Amino acid sequence: MIKKILVIHGPNLNLLGEREPGIYGDSSIEVLNSNIIDRAEEQGMSCDVFQSNHEGAIIDKLHAARTEFDGVILNAGAYTHYSYAIRDAIAAIKIPVIEVHISNVFARDGFRSNSVIAPVCKGSISGFGFGSYYLAVQALSEL
Ligand code: DQA
Repeated sequence: MIKKILVIHGPNLNLLGEREPGIYGDSSIEVLNSNIIDRAEEQGMSCDVFQSNHEGAIIDKLHAARTEFDGVILNAGAYTHYSYAIRDAIAAIKIPVIEVHISNVFARDGFRSNSVIAPVCKGSISGFGFGSYYLAVQALSEL
């Protein structure tokens, strides 16, 4: 049963609200995090949040999560498309990791259609705006 979840936001997601609002919306990461935590608590789960622009910090957090959390929601940002190191970190841990994207990565630049992390994630959610995270919370609560 999933009781404790961790949300990891990767590079450039600290600039939500300012960054390309036509694609990522005009709300901040603080608003997003508060909404995610509310939804997790509604489902009877506790939720921590973490953001980093650094590949190694994301890997360290995934490693730490394996003993501290029951599941992870990961928006790896552009690392999604080329970080074999993050892929290997996900493969190395046993707790489920759900890949999320705010935008529909299949409807954008060609390079965004490839996720090197998708094969080692429990599942992937893309294209629902901030709703992608809320759907992932729901999915974890049902595992
Ligand atoms: C993103 C999509 C990625 O292609 C991009 O590099 C991001 C954000 C999304 O949430 O839609 O930084 O992961």
